[in-house]
Amino acid sequence: MIKACIFDLDGVIVDTAHYHFLAWKRLAAEMGITLTERENERLKGVSRMRSLEIILELGGLAKSEHEKELLANKKNSWFVDFVERMAPEEIFPGVPSLLGSLKEKGYRIGLASSSKNAKTVIQLLKIEGLFDVVVDGTMIVNSKPHPEIFLLAASKLGLHPSSCLVFEDAESGVEAALAAGMKCVGVGSHEQLHKANLVIPATGEFQLADLLELETV
Ligand code: G6P
Ligand code: MG
Repeated sequence: MIKACIFDLDGVIVDTAHYHFLAWKRLAAEMGITLTERENERLKGVSRMRSLEIILELGGLAKSEHEKELLANKKNSWFVDFVERMAPEEIFPGVPSLLGSLKEKGYRIGLASSSKNAKTVIQLLKIEGLFDVVVDGTMIVNSKPHPEIFLLAASKLGLHPSSCLVFEDAESGVEAALAAGMKCVGVGSHEQLHKANLVIPATGEFQLADLLELETV
């Protein structure tokens, strides 16, 4: 039986995945690398440093640990600039009401984001009160596709992983949820997220009937 829904943040609750992309694209361009939307899919869900390493691999560049720190900090400062100008309207349509109705039905709600900025984002958007448990990039060693973040969320919720349903927009996130022994709803394209138990185009389109159906698969 599903007792909790665990949501990724960037690209699931709010469109910050786009800001990550814009910031990485700008950093890549400064190094003479063109980062396409397709390549950007590989950056979703993984840590800041791993994302940078993927970009450097794409461009065939090698950097020292110190240079990588500086580059990752630069990207993060651009990302934070975007986030600080974000308005509550940038929360995806239907998301607060979905979380509210899940809560009303007795489901616990968790947030599990690899981002070290996750708490800042939910505070700025004034939605931190929607979550019973928040796990972010500061609390884990291994980022998605490793299951650590979801297992930590389940343990903080006091639930067995099999009682948790994850919402994810990243292929690495879907893999992490399944590796944790959880069911997963992919938010985005079927081509990218076909491993998920269900794929929907937008978080706000999820229905309670979908949840009941997922309990039977
Ligand atoms: C999330 C996003 C990634 C991002 C990562 C780290 O998983 O999907 O695109 O790189 O968090 O975010 P941070 O805010 O810590 O750089
Ligand atoms: Mg995401």
